[in-house]
Amino acid sequence: MPQTVKGVIARSKGADVELVDVVVPDPGPGEAVVQIHSCGVCHTDLHYREGGINDEFPFLLGHEAAGVVESVGAGVTDVAPGDFVILNWRAVCGQCRACAKGKPWYCFNTHNAKQKMTLEDGTELSPALGIGAFIEKTLVAAGQCTKVDAEADAAAVGLLGCGVMAGFGAAVNTGGIGRGDSIAVIGCGGVGNAAIAGASIAGATTIIAVDVDDRKLETAKSFGATHTVNGGTEDVVERIRELTGGFGADVVVEAVGRPETYEQAFYARDLAGTVVLVGVPTPDKQVTLPMIEIFGRGGALKSSWYGDCLPSRDFPMLVDLYRQGRFDLDAFVSERIGLDAIEGAFEKMERGEVLRSVVVL
Ligand SMILES: NC(=O)c1ccc[n+]([C@@H]2O[C@H](COP(=O)([O-])OP(=O)(O)OC[C@H]3O[C@@H](n4cnc5c(N)ncnc54)[C@H](O)[C@@H]3O)[C@@H](O)[C@H]2O)c1
Ligand SMILES: [Zn+2]
Ligand SMILES: [Zn+2]
Repeated sequence: MPQTVKGVIARSKGADVELVDVVVPDPGPGEAVVQIHSCGVCHTDLHYREGGINDEFPFLLGHEAAGVVESVGAGVTDVAPGDFVILNWRAVCGQCRACAKGKPWYCFNTHNAKQKMTLEDGTELSPALGIGAFIEKTLVAAGQCTKVDAEADAAAVGLLGCGVMAGFGAAVNTGGIGRGDSIAVIGCGGVGNAAIAGASIAGATTIIAVDVDDRKLETAKSFGATHTVNGGTEDVVERIRELTGGFGADVVVEAVGRPETYEQAFYARDLAGTVVLVGVPTPDKQVTLPMIEIFGRGGALKSSWYGDCLPSRDFPMLVDLYRQGRFDLDAFVSERIGLDAIEGAFEKMERGEVLRSVVVL
């Protein structure tokens, strides 16, 4: 029997989110219904609400979640009712051209649930990143459920489902940061601070945090930043060069998604260095760069989709590091809120007061 539960939707561009009744179908073949225990508020949810991702309103928001599998459909063997899982937005297909080349973290044909969750009048909802987890129970493809140690705190490890994984992976997987490297991270929200933590765990020795908000810079130090730069009052490119022997950083992670910070990243890296864009720009943003500089500086200009992660490989590993006290996921949880407080959480995010507000059910 389909179930009716409470969920948070964005009905139209820019309108405040609403807590409404959502109809969740029973899982079909290859699908699972998951009882949500926690879901972080990511900047991407706000992008959806503002129409910055696409126009497929109404959206069922939320995508950074952990919970317990309630029921599975036909043919599901990897997870079972009762399993504690982190939801992912990269259920790889194993068959597309990326998977066939042995690069499944780029999978171009990821799975989501085939059935739609709807409003009570039958209006189909678009789940954010194919998840939709600001809701009591959600319907996903079974491959979107990654089983992890059930002892872990859902509010903390659920953040691996998006922002923390994206940031960690931007530094470690996409940027390839290793022992002795230098890195600068521009934008120290949940994503940027996870990049800092990842660089620290991977052995980077110069870790420069850049933000326009001194509170964020203070937090960045606790995640392993060795230096901080306030981009509102200091020349970011100059300061990063000074802090890296006059050369620039081996890797610069842009975790804001704006042209001016991308340009800073471009000029603040060493020759043959790497820029990693993990911040998501809105479709109107443009950058103009001298082509001779693109050639002359060499290196790589990369984007990082979800930190180039493989959930089945990376989530259990990061939960282990968390459980061993080597990766402080608790420090990303600024506050625990109810489903009725998402709009307020967006405001706190915009005012820079939180790394992550986490809905706990
Ligand atoms: N690529 C991916 O797979 C992926 C996944 C999750 C999130 N994201 C994106 O990453 C970005 C960051 O997400 P978040 O949740 O950490 O957001 P957030 O709002 O928590 O953090 C953004 C930070 O950038 C800082 N900032 C703003 N303007 C700045 C400037 N000019 N210079 C320096 N710092 C500046 C803010 O003070 C804030 O600390 C967003 O664009 C989000 O959509 C990407
Ligand atoms: Zn694939
Ligand atoms: Zn996200």
